[in-house]
Amino acid sequence: MNDRELKEKNNGRTRRQGSVITGGNSGIGLATAQRFVQEGAYVFITGRRQAELDKAVALIGRNVTAVQGDITKLQDLDGIAAAVKAEKGVVDIIVSNAGLTEQASIDSLTEEHFDKTFNLMAKAPVFLVQKLLPLMTGGGSIILVSSAMHLMGIPGHTTYAATKAALRSYARTWAAEFKGRNIRVNTLSPGVTDTPILDSQATTSEERESLVNMYLSMIPIGRLARAEEIANAAVFLGSDQSSYLTGSDLMADGGVGQV
Ligand SMILES: NC(=O)c1ccc[n+]([C@@H]2O[C@H](COP(=O)([O-])OP(=O)(O)OC[C@H]3O[C@@H](n4cnc5c(N)ncnc54)[C@H](OP(=O)(O)O)[C@@H]3O)[C@@H](O)[C@H]2O)c1
Repeated sequence: MNDRELKEKNNGRTRRQGSVITGGNSGIGLATAQRFVQEGAYVFITGRRQAELDKAVALIGRNVTAVQGDITKLQDLDGIAAAVKAEKGVVDIIVSNAGLTEQASIDSLTEEHFDKTFNLMAKAPVFLVQKLLPLMTGGGSIILVSSAMHLMGIPGHTTYAATKAALRSYARTWAAEFKGRNIRVNTLSPGVTDTPILDSQATTSEERESLVNMYLSMIPIGRLARAEEIANAAVFLGSDQSSYLTGSDLMADGGVGQV
C-alpha cells in the first residue's frame, strides 16, 4: 500500500466525518485543525472569541465550522454537541485542547484562580466528552491535550500542573471504561510551544524573553516547539497509525519532561 492509499484508508476509517477541537482558533488547536483538514477531515473548532474564530475559518479555508462558546458553561457544551449533531450527526475525533496558563504561588493563589483553572482544564473536558460520546463513531479517538508539566514540578504551577495530571488520569480511566466501545483515549503532552499562551504569561517583551530563556535552559532539543509539531502528534493519535495506543501519553516535549 502506498502512502496515499494508506492515508485514504486511515481517513476513511477514522477521520472524514467530524473532529471537534476546542480552542481551535489559536495556537496548537488551530495548527491541529489545519493539519486535520489537510488530512481529509471535517473540523468543528470552538473558542470564545468570535473574531479569532472567523480568522481561523478563513485560514483553514474549507471543511470547517466554528462554534462559539465558553466550554466552562455546560449549556455551551450542549451547543457544540447540537451543532455537530445537526451538521454531521457523528464525531470521530475529539481534541480537548482549550487551556490557559495563569501562574500563582501558594501564597497568592486565590479561589477564583483555582476555579478558573480547574473549570477550564479539569471540569470542561469531562463534560465535553460526556456530551459528545453519544455521537462518537466506533474507531474514534479522544485526544486530551495535557502538558509535560503534568509530571514536572515548576514553581507557580500548582493548579495548572494538577489539571494536566487530571487529564492523564482521565485517559487511563476512560481507556478502561470505553472497553468494548472501540474508542481510544490518550493524552498528548506538549513541551513549551511558541503560541499566544506564552504572551499571556508576560506583560512586556523583556519578561517574555526571560521566561523563554528560562525554559530554553531546560529543553534538551534547545528550542521551543512549533504548534505544527504538536499538531503532527495529534494527527498520529487521531489516525489508525496509533491503533494500538489507548490510555497512554504521547510526550511531544523536546525532552523537557524526560531529563
Ligand atoms: N504552548 C505551550 O507551551 C503549551 C505547553 C503544554 C501544553 N499546552 C496546552 O495546549 C493547549 C493549547 O494551548 P496553546 O498554547 O495553543 O494556547 P493558546 O494559543 O492561548 O490557545 C488557547 C485556546 O483555548 C481557548 N479557550 C480558553 N479559554 C476558553 C474557554 N473558557 N472556552 C473555550 N475556549 C477557551 C482559546 O480561545 P478563546 O480565547 O477564543 O476562548 C484558545 O483557542 C492548552 O491546553 C495548553 O495548556 C500548551
